[in-house]
Amino acid sequence: MTVIAVFNQKGGVGKTTATANLAAAMARNGFDPLVIDLDPQAHLTAMSGLHPEARRTIYGFFQAQTPLSELVHRLPNGVNLIPSHMELARVDMLLTQNRRDLRRLKKAMAEEMLTDSGTPILIDCCPMLGVLSLSALIAADAVLVPVTAEYLAMNGAHQLDQTLSGLTSQGLYRPRRTFLNRYQRGHPTSEKVAAELTRRYGRDFCRTRVFESQSVLEGIGHNQDVFSYAPDSEGAEDFSYLLDELIETGFIKIAK
Ligand SMILES: Nc1ncnc2c1ncn2[C@@H]1O[C@H](COP(=O)(O)OP(=O)(O)OP(=O)(O)O)[C@@H](O)[C@H]1O
Ligand SMILES: [Mg+2]
Repeated sequence: MTVIAVFNQKGGVGKTTATANLAAAMARNGFDPLVIDLDPQAHLTAMSGLHPEARRTIYGFFQAQTPLSELVHRLPNGVNLIPSHMELARVDMLLTQNRRDLRRLKKAMAEEMLTDSGTPILIDCCPMLGVLSLSALIAADAVLVPVTAEYLAMNGAHQLDQTLSGLTSQGLYRPRRTFLNRYQRGHPTSEKVAAELTRRYGRDFCRTRVFESQSVLEGIGHNQDVFSYAPDSEGAEDFSYLLDELIETGFIKIAK
């Protein structure tokens, strides 16, 4: 079983899109994925067509100690989602960066046996390194980093390198895997960014590219993952290949 934090301090690189579509790919492959929306923007929650009260979201866990398992919503595509709410922004301000606060999420996942259940868990992080994202990185076994084919997105990945080095120096090593999102074959910037990421990360940079995809984009507008919206599209194929690569290379370990 693996807990994956999907993170990049740069906004808009595809963290939420990747979380939603990788979880959907897992569900289609017979796994029983759990996704935690840990972003006060609650985009993943909205994309899933949910509009729960704050207390029925991950905010209820941080604010009122509601068990995580009581906050799970089952989606029609077979994904289990703990949704988010804009009130979650207060948690980033209320909690401190002390050891106890930062480990609450990890501790609860272990105590509720979520991390022993064979269920892969994906955490959709917000684009800031506050208490919420640090909680996710500490709770995670590994970090998946989407990078879009533009230079500023690589800066975000570089900032993350420094954050992960900081965790490693505290005995919290987290393997990371980067993948290129919104790739456009033959486009000079796409190719330059791909070459630079290969140079920088070597085998920790996924071979699979997720192409710029109209189906991915349109699916979101219909509150659907790309497999439900356009199962035969290239977008569905890309996320399916990405999941295969992450499993085959041992980055994600899941039992059926
Ligand atoms: N492969 C893709 N093809 C086309 N559009 C995409 C693709 N990946 C992401 N997008 C679009 O890019 C935008 C940003 O994606 P997304 O919300 O997933 O990024 P994010 O990293 O979660 O953003 P934030 O940092 O705000 O949480 C969205 O409009 C999404 O639909
Ligand atoms: Mg997002």
